[in-house]
Amino acid sequence: MAQKIVAGNWKMNLSLKEAIDLVESIDQEDLDKDVRVILFPSTLYLQALSEKTKLELGVQNFSEMDKGAYTGEIAISQIRSVGGSIGLIGHSERRMYYKESNDVLKAKVNQAVEEDFDFIFCCGEPLEVREGGREMEYVSRQLKESLFHLPKDKIKNKIIAYEPVWAIGTGKTATAEQAEEMHKNIRFWLKEKYGEEIADSVSILYGGSCKPQNAKEIFACENVDGGLIGGASLNAKDFTTIINSFE
Ligand code: 13P
Repeated sequence: MAQKIVAGNWKMNLSLKEAIDLVESIDQEDLDKDVRVILFPSTLYLQALSEKTKLELGVQNFSEMDKGAYTGEIAISQIRSVGGSIGLIGHSERRMYYKESNDVLKAKVNQAVEEDFDFIFCCGEPLEVREGGREMEYVSRQLKESLFHLPKDKIKNKIIAYEPVWAIGTGKTATAEQAEEMHKNIRFWLKEKYGEEIADSVSILYGGSCKPQNAKEIFACENVDGGLIGGASLNAKDFTTIINSFE
């Protein structure tokens, strides 16, 4: 069985003081012990936050290089040195605004594997692709071109987040049926390539306007193992309610 995970992607929000307050508020709540909780704050705050909380902390992006003359980039070893243990790869905002291609994302996957750094691989289709009925082909290609080159032992227990772009920050969430349909396909593609045991070990998270009001229904789907939460993770009560939304 894949691990249940709820992760909060804070994106480019909060001052350091607000981030510390939020972490302290989340820490005071009663969290479902069976759920792995991960926070993705600004990388700038990792060190300060890691001194305040035992919650797992990660980065929203990292370099595909190990070190050297890459102005403005941040290496995995640097992230580790300030308390980060996991990174997002291929969030749609990185793909869209910073033109991260499937090739660059593949290089990030390889760097993470090389350095034994955990990651959440994000995928998801834009609105026009869904309207054209090509979402399965689109997401399958994202996975094939950047992730599915990994050998069996490296994909085991990994995390994939399905985030339909049209549902991110729009308040327009995918229905539980739409989420389950895509998640079921992702599980099937994993099974085809790696076999059942590996496919069942991968956590597949849903992201896109996931809120306290809809988390229960989405998390109840057979192939949904948790969520990658944007807006609602900026509020301790909302985020905690989502964490505690598994049956
Ligand atoms: P929202 O929950 O704000 O729609 O964001 C989802 C997301 O992009 C998480 O990575």
